Amino acid sequence: MAAAKTHKVTARPREKWILLLLWIHWIFLLRCGTQASWMYLGVASLAGSVRDDKCNELPGLVQEQLQVCRENPESLLCISEGARRGILECQSQFKNERWNCTTQRNHTVFGPILRKGTRETAFIYAVLSAGVVHAVTQACSVGNLTDCSCDMSRYGESDVEGWKWGGCSDNVDYGLYVSKQFVDAPEVSTDLSDSRVLMNLHNNEVGRETVKHLMSRRCRCHGVSGSCAVKTCWRGLPPFQDIGRALKQSYERSVRLAVRSKRRLRRKDRRRRREPISYSELVHLRRSPNYCRNRPSKGILGTRGRVCNRTSTGPESCDLLCCGRGYNTQVVRHVERCHCKFHWCCYVECKRCETMVDVHTCK
Ligand SMILES: *[C@@H]1O[C@H](CO)[C@@H](O)[C@H](O)[C@H]1NC(C)=O
Ligand SMILES: *[C@@H]1O[C@H](CO)[C@@H](O)[C@H](O)[C@H]1NC(C)=O
Ligand SMILES: *[C@@H]1O[C@H](CO)[C@@H](O)[C@H](O)[C@H]1NC(C)=O
Ligand SMILES: *[C@@H]1O[C@H](CO)[C@@H](O)[C@H](O)[C@H]1NC(C)=O
Repeated sequence: MAAAKTHKVTARPREKWILLLLWIHWIFLLRCGTQASWMYLGVASLAGSVRDDKCNELPGLVQEQLQVCRENPESLLCISEGARRGILECQSQFKNERWNCTTQRNHTVFGPILRKGTRETAFIYAVLSAGVVHAVTQACSVGNLTDCSCDMSRYGESDVEGWKWGGCSDNVDYGLYVSKQFVDAPEVSTDLSDSRVLMNLHNNEVGRETVKHLMSRRCRCHGVSGSCAVKTCWRGLPPFQDIGRALKQSYERSVRLAVRSKRRLRRKDRRRRREPISYSELVHLRRSPNYCRNRPSKGILGTRGRVCNRTSTGPESCDLLCCGRGYNTQVVRHVERCHCKFHWCCYVECKRCETMVDVHTCK
């Protein structure tokens, strides 16, 4: 960014060229950077950087997001935690796939993958948006944020089935609100007739709706020796893995969009065009690239060296993961504690067992 300041200096012809190149490079970075760079918060260690005077040092936040950083640093920390949660869940859901959701520890985060508008892009937007809802809502419930607390609106009410609303219901509305304000901000401030912008906004909403949809009633029994004479219930967040799993299913059924749509999402599939697109469906604009071969310029690592499973038939099978290139087999010594015995009182004695296991990696 310093390049912008330096090009006022009067320069000799050769230096002018260099400055021009730097300037173009900077504009280019800025353009690409406008795509969802807040996701960087999920890989950054924010210790000490979330302070009024330091907010401008966080790369790629748009005006509205910077304002959150300045006015409400604690909620920015929650949002970062949400992004981190989303990234980890993405990696867990995709650990067996050809594209495994690798991130870089700098502001490019997911690399060029994000620019493409494929179903992988769709999943990333949804899972991070959901992560923010989840983290913020949890923070409300434990009292970490000053602007929200538990949802006590139904506290004390009795249900027709005979149980009572009690305890601390998770305040998902506040989480949804923060996610909408913060996560949608980079899109809302741009061209709302751009199909990529519409795609992002839709997928962000899919993430939020998925959290809301999976909220469930949790109950606790009271009464002599668990007789459940009195039952109190509250509404609780699902574990984040459940959200990840649901989004992965939406990913598999993701809807391809017709690109030339103005201000409205339309299915590419003409036969289903009349069906409205719901918030349980992720949407994408372009077909996914082939993730088999290493193509650094496209941010694709390829599957060479990935560990595969020879006997499985799923995506982690050597056939599928290695894209038909075959695999190498290594015998690896595996040491573990085994035949453990508990001795009174109180220690456990184990033996060391060695086994040899075959590890297959893609060629
Ligand atoms: C994804 O696969 C690459 C090898 O292609 C590996 O280096 C990386 O650790 C994997 N990432 C995750 C998050 O599993
Ligand atoms: C981000 O990090 C990756 C590897 O960690 C590197 O290849 C890439 O060039 C970096 N990008 C920028 C813009 O610094
Ligand atoms: C609440 O804040 C504490 C201290 O900052 C942190 O360790 C904890 O993880 C937070 N809990 C939630 C659910 O955000
Ligand atoms: C490989 O796949 C088989 C069948 O799905 C499974 O039983 C086995 O545990 C897997 N092996 C490893 C090392 O994950």
